Parts: sequence; C-alpha cells; structure tokens
Amino acid sequence: MDGVEAGRSGRCSAVSTPSAPPSSKNLPPGLGDGLCGGSPRGTDGYRWCAPGAGLSQTTSPHLSSRGSIIRRLRDSSEMGYNAYHADKYDEDENPDGIINLATSENKLCFDLLSERLNQKDMHHIEPTLLQYADWRGHGFLREEVARFLTYYCKAPAPLKLQNVIVLNGCTALFSVLATVLCEPGEAFLIATPFYGAITQDLYFYGNVCLAYVDLDSKVTGTDSRPYQLTVEKLEAALQGARSEGTNVKGLILLNPHNPLGDIYSLEEMLDFLEFAKRHALHVIVDEIYMLSVFDEPSPFHSVLGMDRLPDPQRTHVMWGTSKDFGISGIRFGVLYTENQDVANAVASLGCFHSICGTVQHQIAQLLRDQDWIDQVYLPENHSRLKAAHTYVTDQLNSLGVPFLDRKAGLFIWIDLSKYLRSGTFQEEKQLGRRFLDNKVLLSCGQGFKCKEPGWFRLIFSDKKPRLQLGMQRIRQVLSELELQSGNLPPPCQQPEQSSKRGQGDL
Ligand SMILES: Cc1ncc(COP(=O)(O)O)c(C=O)c1O
Repeated sequence: MDGVEAGRSGRCSAVSTPSAPPSSKNLPPGLGDGLCGGSPRGTDGYRWCAPGAGLSQTTSPHLSSRGSIIRRLRDSSEMGYNAYHADKYDEDENPDGIINLATSENKLCFDLLSERLNQKDMHHIEPTLLQYADWRGHGFLREEVARFLTYYCKAPAPLKLQNVIVLNGCTALFSVLATVLCEPGEAFLIATPFYGAITQDLYFYGNVCLAYVDLDSKVTGTDSRPYQLTVEKLEAALQGARSEGTNVKGLILLNPHNPLGDIYSLEEMLDFLEFAKRHALHVIVDEIYMLSVFDEPSPFHSVLGMDRLPDPQRTHVMWGTSKDFGISGIRFGVLYTENQDVANAVASLGCFHSICGTVQHQIAQLLRDQDWIDQVYLPENHSRLKAAHTYVTDQLNSLGVPFLDRKAGLFIWIDLSKYLRSGTFQEEKQLGRRFLDNKVLLSCGQGFKCKEPGWFRLIFSDKKPRLQLGMQRIRQVLSELELQSGNLPPPCQQPEQSSKRGQGDL
C-alpha cells in the first residue's frame, strides 16, 4: 500500500448502517490508488479492506456519494483494461496495439466452441423462452446443471434441481450472495493474494467488506508451499478482525485458486470447512476453474464431491462457464446451496441478473452434450492449455523470472520483485505502466492485494503468435531495466530466491 494506515474509522465506517450509505465525506485519508486500503495492523496476517478509502473527496454533481465512489473505484481499477480496449492488438488491423495478458479469458478454443454453438440443436425458439421465467432459471437448465455438477464434481448422490440457481455470471453471484448474507459493513475473510474484483463484487451493492488473511511467498514454519493457507492463519485473522470490532460473516475460498493456480487437497478443504463451522461462518466456495486443470490426473476435488459437508446450510458453491468453456461473453454462473432461505433470497435478486431464455437453452444443450465435452472439448482444451503454459514458462525460465509452476487456471503468478529497486508498490505500478507503454498488459500484484510488491499475474491461455509477441515485449522492458541498472542480475542469471527453491517452483 502507499504507506498510510487505515484508521479504525476507515473500517467500512462509510457503510456501517443501511440508513447511512457510503459517503466520500467520511472516508479516511488516502491509502493509495487501489481498491482497498489497509495495512497490516494488530495481528499478524490480518488486514482490513476499506474499499472507499483513498479516494479524493470530489463527487460528481450528478451522482450520489455512493455513485461517485463506485465510479472512482471502477475507474482506478480498470485503467489498463480501458487502455487495452482503446488500442487492441490485431494482427492485421492494429499490429502495434496492446497485447492483453491481464484479463482471465481462455482464447484457445474459439474454433471448437463456435462449431458446437452453431449446431442446429442450439437454435430453438418456443414461447416460454421468450417470456419472463422463474428467476432461479428455467427448470430444464437447472436440471441439466444439477446433472452436470453431479458428474463433474463426483457428487456421492445426485445433486438436486431445487438447490441450483443460475444468474448472469459469478460476478453477479458474489454480489447477490454478499447482499443477502451480510449487513452493510460486515466482512468475509479471504486469503491474499486473491482475484481482486471480489472487492467490488461485495462492496458495490452490498457494502460488504473483506478481512484479509495475508499469505507469504516465503515458505516458513510448518508450511510446505508458498502462500499456503492454513487453519491457524484463518484463526489468527478471524481473531484479529474480531478484536477490532469487525463482524466477520463468512469465508471465501477459491479452488482452483486465482491467481496462484493452487488446488486445495480434500483434507485442506475439509479443515477449512470445519473451521468455518466452528465459528458459524458462511463459506462461498468459488470453483469457476474446476475443469481448467490441465495436467492429468486431476487432483481437484469439488466440495460437492465430499461424502458430507460439515455445515451444508452455510456452504454455497459457485461455478460458471466463463473460464472452463472460454465463453465469458455469455454471462452464466451457477450457485449450488442447500439453504433454501439463501436460495430464495438470491432468487429474489435474480430478477436483476437473469439470463436470456434462448441463451438458457443453449447452455443446457452445451452442458447436456457430455460426449462432446469428454471426448472432444476437454482433452483438446487441456492439451492447448498445457502447450501454452509450457511455452510461457519456458520463456520465463530463459528470462530468469521466478514463478509458481501450477497446472490449473489460465494464469501464472510471476515474481518481478528483483526489478524493483526499493521494493515498493509505487515501483510495481511503474513497472506495470512500463509494460503498458510497450504495448503489453499484465496485472499488478497489488490488484490482488498481495502484501509483497513485485508480483504480477500473466494470462497464458492465448494463441501462440500473441503469446510470442507479448513475451517479446515483456523481455524488451526487462532487458532495458537491466541495462539501466547495474544492480540487477543479467536476464539468464537465477536470482538468489529461485536458486534456493528451484526455478518455476517458488
Ligand atoms: C475466481 C473467479 N471468480 C469469478 C469470476 C467472475 O466470473 P464471471 O465471468 O462468471 O462473472 C472470475 C473472473 O475472472 C474469477 O477469476
């Protein structure tokens, strides 16, 4: 962060009661330009997220104070994304445009998807598809989703249609779940680094905050891998948050993890769920990358495959088609919860987040086609993901850039800290800016609330020519930095950190 402490008054004070909506007037002083403020305080490994912190007091005369905060938060988080959309790389039309290695999209299987989605069975119109539907989603689709999840999550018994709700994406699901589970100003625990948009998803409508469980890139104590989440760390962060008066309502778990690519073992997941049960916490388990594990045999275990859930009434699982099918433009997300109060409340907000009837038909047809998914799509997708991952990690190795070598997700978490002279987030941002100036977009670690400056997320699930050009542009920036600074190790020399742990496996 930019070095300014979040005072106690910063803790979602702007959103503490439903009758006191967020106001930029009572926000604490600046905490940098990220979405969340806060710095480690009190208990080790715990930080508080105050989303509106750090924004200047100016509001638009046309917007409510809440509207102004939302606009400013969005603007600050999407600068790179907007730059990319204004100057997109295109081989023929705009070869000097920006290569986007920042947005988590799978661009490897458009041919397969377009072929499947253009088949005859996809094009179907009937009156019910053109009318208002059940806000949980059409029954035919929810039935198909229940069957799909039963099969791919290896559920011990058939999952039930009445526990399925479909909305227009997991983004909407986060937002809706936070709103129906929490009072404004309450919080979810989440381990850092994490997929940063969750901050906005929880805050924009629900005014729900995050309490961070800060994880470390260094393997310490009894840990066996970098950024290892343990029950002890969860306990410490929960106590830290509570001792500061924060009402923690739940825990968010990402599995497979974005941005780390880690997969929790069944035992770890069970421990986390038992921890949540002991403290009566809701758990949102986001499994949106569950079919994007590209090295066999898949070690991924869905919580829906457990023999028993420790606290089924407080466990809410989500999945969607954006990543595993590479169709993020078709907005589709699934919630599976046995809690009918939660399901009904989510469905009540479903009227703001429903999916077009004809798209519901297409998704049902897609998920129903198990032969195509198993025989054609998944094997090809996994082999393309693996090839792209190998290409990029080979490049990183030749550059001497340490990274987490994982086989899940669409991203690689890379360590560029040796390119920062004094190791600040300001320098990290400058490095991100330098990449952008050289027409390649990467995501800075600060956007994931990583507590250590210098980490970046690199998306590898793109076609080879774009990856080649993107890596070439990254290499150019790093070489220039090395030339400018005699202190930096030459490109092929292993930094001390990686020589201890082995390249590619920090
Ligand atoms: C972990 C995670 N959850 C949820 C989402 C949002 O997905 P959707 O496209 O379904 O809104 C993303 C998108 O990047 C993600 O990485």
